[in-house]
Amino acid sequence: MSETAHVREVGPRDGIQMVKTMLTTERKLAWCRGAAAAGIGEIEVTSFVPPKVIAQFADAEEVARGALTIGGFRPSVLVPNLKGAERAFALGLPQVNYVLSASEAHNLANVRRGTEESLVDFGRIAALRDQRSGPRIALASGIATAFGCTISGAVDEGRVVEIARRLVDMGADEIIVADTVGYGDPGQVRRLLKAVIAAVGRVRVSCHFHDTRGLGLANVTAALETGVRTFDASLAGLGGCPFAPGATGNIDTEDTVFLLEQLGFDTGVDLDRLIALRREVESWLPGERFSGAIARAGLPKTYRHARAA
Ligand code: COA
Ligand code: ZN
Repeated sequence: MSETAHVREVGPRDGIQMVKTMLTTERKLAWCRGAAAAGIGEIEVTSFVPPKVIAQFADAEEVARGALTIGGFRPSVLVPNLKGAERAFALGLPQVNYVLSASEAHNLANVRRGTEESLVDFGRIAALRDQRSGPRIALASGIATAFGCTISGAVDEGRVVEIARRLVDMGADEIIVADTVGYGDPGQVRRLLKAVIAAVGRVRVSCHFHDTRGLGLANVTAALETGVRTFDASLAGLGGCPFAPGATGNIDTEDTVFLLEQLGFDTGVDLDRLIALRREVESWLPGERFSGAIARAGLPKTYRHARAA
């Protein structure tokens, strides 16, 4: 029996934050439908930010409602504050992903307040979640710029661990350790993830890597060594934070699935279907930079699903 690993598609959120084309709601939902049909089990489908901050997400409610009707995968949404969480809770989504930054400077640029204020806001969100009746909503929190910041440089690892611990103490069900600007390397990933897991091991710890400096997949293997089994990725390697200077794409979903399967982890994903979807998504986004080796070179003749091996 092979061990399972999870790839969460974040293309309909992170992937389209900086693209020039406004995708229609129907195409965003086609992305979700296609990824789910290819076997992706979790998708971050949209972002509950004000449309004046990121116009791409003006249809967030419609996308989230539509995603809930598709079925076959677990939809989540990104929220930057209490107001965003209220919008998400109202729709009955099973999971909501909050975001704050370990870097004070990036937190100020991204959500216009300090990291401590964002932590207080998370406490309010968790309290609101706990007061609600109905099925329990899972609350994740991303810790952005956990490996360094393009505005302020180095980020203290002890600070990242402290933030993770405080989020879990307040009710976080998952910690998403995020390399927003692609500063992390495998040694740093091994060190930081070990420390975060030791501090909050009772909740799921996942990783969100950007491949800005080419170490994205190396960082995945390093995180696997520490026990991480959930990775955010974006089809065609799209993505990037508009409020982090120099940010570029997430690790590519197809390449991440390929790596995990080659290492013997069952992702449940059909790569041929995923590559077909990627081609479709590429056709919707003229002029964007796409990355990923598997879509370019094709799967090797020797490729076998981990489940079949
Ligand atoms: N959704 C919709 N509207 C929101 C909102 C949300 N999540 N949060 C705030 N608003 C509205 C407020 O109601 C207010 O509306 P009004 O002007 O009509 O009264 C207005 O937006 C300003 O609210 P305020 O609380 O002062 O927000 P702000 O201007 O300080 O901006 C954030 C703070 C967090 C909303 C903004 O910085 C943001 O959206 N950041 C996210 C950036 C991002 O997505 N980065 C990439 C992902 S990591
Ligand atoms: Zn990101």
